[in-house]
Amino acid sequence: MAEGGVQRGLEDVVALESQICFIDGKEGRLIYRGYDIRELAERSTFEEVAYLLWYGRLPTPDQLDGLRTRLAGLRALPEPIERILAEMPPSANAMDVLRTCVSALAILEPAETQPGPSSIGGALRLTAVLPTILGHFHRARAGMPRLAPAPDLSHAAWVLHALRGTEASELEVRALDVALILHADHELNASTFAARVTASTLSDLYSAVTSAIGTLKGPLHGGANERVMELLDEVGTPARAEEVVRAKLARHERIMGFGHRVYKVEDPRATILREWSRKLGQAKGNLRYFDLLRQVEQVVHAEKGLYPNVDLYSGSIYTLLGIPRDLFTPLFAASRVSGWTAHVLEEYQDLRLIRPTSRYVGPIDLAYVPIEKRTAA
Ligand code: CMC
Repeated sequence: MAEGGVQRGLEDVVALESQICFIDGKEGRLIYRGYDIRELAERSTFEEVAYLLWYGRLPTPDQLDGLRTRLAGLRALPEPIERILAEMPPSANAMDVLRTCVSALAILEPAETQPGPSSIGGALRLTAVLPTILGHFHRARAGMPRLAPAPDLSHAAWVLHALRGTEASELEVRALDVALILHADHELNASTFAARVTASTLSDLYSAVTSAIGTLKGPLHGGANERVMELLDEVGTPARAEEVVRAKLARHERIMGFGHRVYKVEDPRATILREWSRKLGQAKGNLRYFDLLRQVEQVVHAEKGLYPNVDLYSGSIYTLLGIPRDLFTPLFAASRVSGWTAHVLEEYQDLRLIRPTSRYVGPIDLAYVPIEKRTAA
């Protein structure tokens, strides 16, 4: 809401034109490059969607094969990054690990980081390598040996393999593939904006992604699905949902996984993930999370009229896939990196330094006091 000419949080401010992503917040629609997310989640793969975001059109079979081969060939980490990962304390925040490794990669791979159309090489490299970073970090802290990149696996299958080391079922791979598709882009969200601001200074792609990872780390953007799982721990059984949620609302606490700056109805990603939470829960004989979430959803809607967002059901899917909670947000980054880089490439094509202004509300014309005459406030 505008206060004294200031649009706090830049809410409703149109900052730039883009051909990448459209959100219809009133109708609850999400469009990538003209295609409805529901159709993409039903019919495409993460690699197809990444191609669409980067190149602006769906790939032919040959183009898709080419992209898959290139991504698969870019999964290995340089030795210095492996050493950095080996030195990370097991308690390190996984988003800090991701941010540090991307930043270090920029020093090792300067050719990929130059601003301009050649940055597409860097976009592929970062998308391919983020799951490897996460896999190495997670396996090292758990005392498990690191895995060699498996070039025959799809991106989603590689993500699961890098983290778990076990073979994933077709349903598991597809569940993750859909989650990756749904997280790939979301218009001018905070982390994408941060990436574009960095790129708009003609800084390099890896710096832009480093900014974006730091921005996604905050719980109001990434991280809400972790908190949702903590809420489910607290609720315990569907019968307790009403009591726990009401008590939180009475304390003016936010219920994670609900509400959205842009969607005024249900987030279409939540609709798709709800169905996948049910499907995967049924296949694994564990509908506990799904049942709890349905109950929480009903109470929050009845009490506050709020709708679920993408984070409500995603955590239950990742948990059923055996992914630890602290890797949920890094996994979000491993998908969103495709969108971040598409936006950075777009920014380079139509560059305009992003530099808003602020309304100064501090004093002016204060008399300068020499240091020896100053007293503590
Ligand atoms: N639980 C309880 N109340 C809420 C919630 C919530 N999750 N979300 C909004 N509200 C209330 C808020 O308290 C306020 O009420 P009042 O007017 O009485 O003070 C009203 O709704 C408007 O809230 P707001 O903070 O002005 O709305 P916003 O557009 O800034 O909020 C949001 C967007 C996502 C920060 C907020 O809904 C929220 O904190 N949700 C929980 C965190 C979460 O799930 N984050 C993931 C967002 S989706 C990820 C993505 O797309 O990147």
